[in-house]
Amino acid sequence: MTAEYQVHGAVAVITLNNPPVNGLGLVTRTAAVRGIEQALADPAVKAIVITGAGKAFSGGADIKEFNSPKALAEPSLHTLIATAENASKPVVAAIHTVCMGGGLELSLGCHYRVAMPGAQIALPEVKLGLLPGAGGTQRLPRVLGLEMALNMIVSGTPVASDKLAGTALFDAVFAADADLVSEAVAFATGIADVRPLPKVRDRQVDYPNHEAFLQFTRNTVKAMSGPFPAPLECVETVAASVTKKFDDGMKFERERFLHLIQTTESKALRHAFFAERIASKVPDVPADTPVRSIRQAAVIGAGTMGGGITMNFLNAGIPVIMLETRQEALDKGVATIRKNYEATLKKGKLTQDKLEQRMGLLTTTLAYEDIAQADIVVEAVFEEIGVKEAVFRELDRVMKPGAILASNTSTLDLNRIASFTGRPQDVIGLHFFSPANVMKLLEIVRGAQTGKDVLATALALAKKLKKTGVVSGVCDGFIGNRMIEQYSRQAGFLLDEGALPEQVDQALEKFGFAMGPFRMGDLAGNDIGWAIRKRRAVESPQIQYSRSADLLCEMGRFGQKTGAGWYDYQAGDRKAYPNAQVNAMIVQHSADIGVARRQISDREIVERLVYAMVNEAALILEEGIALRASDIDMVYLTGYGFPLFRGGPMFYADTVGLPNVLSAMAQFARGYQGDAWQAAPLLLKLAAEGKGFNS
Ligand code: NAI
Repeated sequence: MTAEYQVHGAVAVITLNNPPVNGLGLVTRTAAVRGIEQALADPAVKAIVITGAGKAFSGGADIKEFNSPKALAEPSLHTLIATAENASKPVVAAIHTVCMGGGLELSLGCHYRVAMPGAQIALPEVKLGLLPGAGGTQRLPRVLGLEMALNMIVSGTPVASDKLAGTALFDAVFAADADLVSEAVAFATGIADVRPLPKVRDRQVDYPNHEAFLQFTRNTVKAMSGPFPAPLECVETVAASVTKKFDDGMKFERERFLHLIQTTESKALRHAFFAERIASKVPDVPADTPVRSIRQAAVIGAGTMGGGITMNFLNAGIPVIMLETRQEALDKGVATIRKNYEATLKKGKLTQDKLEQRMGLLTTTLAYEDIAQADIVVEAVFEEIGVKEAVFRELDRVMKPGAILASNTSTLDLNRIASFTGRPQDVIGLHFFSPANVMKLLEIVRGAQTGKDVLATALALAKKLKKTGVVSGVCDGFIGNRMIEQYSRQAGFLLDEGALPEQVDQALEKFGFAMGPFRMGDLAGNDIGWAIRKRRAVESPQIQYSRSADLLCEMGRFGQKTGAGWYDYQAGDRKAYPNAQVNAMIVQHSADIGVARRQISDREIVERLVYAMVNEAALILEEGIALRASDIDMVYLTGYGFPLFRGGPMFYADTVGLPNVLSAMAQFARGYQGDAWQAAPLLLKLAAEGKGFNS
């Protein structure tokens, strides 16, 4: 049973009970329908209250049933709602804490709704690329009016129940200290004999001149929703609540819901939703693995990354001691952190109190002894193995037993870093992305000897810092940068063959990337890639690169920080202006290496860059560096600006179809630098089996 049935006087109380949020899964729906039937059959019962146990009235659909036949099995949510609405005795929804999606739709099918203040009321389906499909679009406007219902349905944002007191959504909102069930029972007793039973479906949505308002809304929503069809579909279905009879509106809602559920955009959003949840699960690290407590952090290096990482801890209320080699570096680091907070304050997103509170958690030092008692230390010093070695030997010397020793290295061998200590089980990679106080991604790098409890602690810490933690094994570049390397190499080859930076960037930006590869290079600093290529030239001389990026660096054009890179930049302006000399350098370079430049289509540009990443990702999966394809998608959605509506590179490849990806790759293999296109065995295998990465 996942709904309890009790009788209080003449009132039956049905309590949904399916933790954590009373999702309306098949068993819960069945129990709720039975409860209503039982109450209707009992002559002693005059009215029915439906409420939820624990931390919710109901959070809506049971996500465990998503994409499973159970979601549609009878009694469906529609049947449950109809059972409540058609009941011959009054049904009262007693709402508290969380009432969302299908939960709100169920309550709208009840004859009365009473609520505790502060309950979160929402129809969030749009966030998964859908619309409320169980009458929400037709019933909510009938109680809240057209404007407010549209706002809630198009944005999916929760509104507190007390803000909705006085609307027809609620018949009563009780005091904060009220006992919901006894108040609801008293309410139900009071209305038990009222007939006819009020039904939301019988109400009208009055909005004079609604067509003009709807047209205005369509324009606004269209401009804001980019490639996603759901927000506009929400507008159209809510419009039907004004323009159509209730039953016709319901039919229309059903039809548009079934359309949306098939769209790639909705599938991509649902994929990302589940990918985020599953990323924190590591097969050999069970959920009950003990975690170490993190009450005090230390950060080594107060540069770009060290400062951002420190802010993450401060934001989560964890005190930080920053350590540097020089006082000036500390002062500069602290000043930058304060400046960042002040910018947030100016935007109205932080109060002066909170700012001081956070700064108050920050202390600095030049002495390792001062950080010895920290529970975790994150190193963010120069990317040189010698510097890392010196730091980790010091940490091994001073840190208390059980402290977690983390490195933010982006390319160095974590196992080697661990070997500088006598406690490799405590060493882990925490690879933050720049700007570290903003970017959601945290690659958690698991060394060969990293302890399971250390990994579990890092995953829990990611949540605490509001990051998406994705576990990666040790390899050059981990998941994200190893793939981006193939993407950047192709971008370089395209320049050799006939493209210019703005064409490549525009093609990728049209595809949906936040930024094309050359603008990204200018932002990150082209000198970083230059240094990596110099290292590779020694370590792996067989890897080919276009020389154009080196020639650019030789021109001193490192990117935005020097005011010039692939593009020119002007002070106070982030716009990228093409530069004639750079473009001439690119054309000259093609001549120098004897490549006849050709017209390259945007489609080829996108395929070359994206499939190069996909192929590398297949190797990453095969080698076990990533645990699952959806983890790779999470890395790209949260750390690299991959378009969300395409679901990440692996999801995208599945959408295209792996045989199609392979045939494009075979064609590229016959072209310039074709050696780069050796298909990964996993890609070949999955394509041959008719499978996808995520199947
Ligand atoms: P940065 O040059 O801005 O900062 C490094 C800081 O470390 C400097 O303030 C320096 O004074 C300090 N430092 C150097 N040696 C030290 C030592 N022995 N003890 C204490 N402090 C020392 O460099 P950034 O960009 O912050 O990079 C730091 C680390 O983060 C590197 O490992 C880098 O690969 C990694 N990383 C960088 C990203 C980026 O986009 N900049 C992204 C992800 C990781």
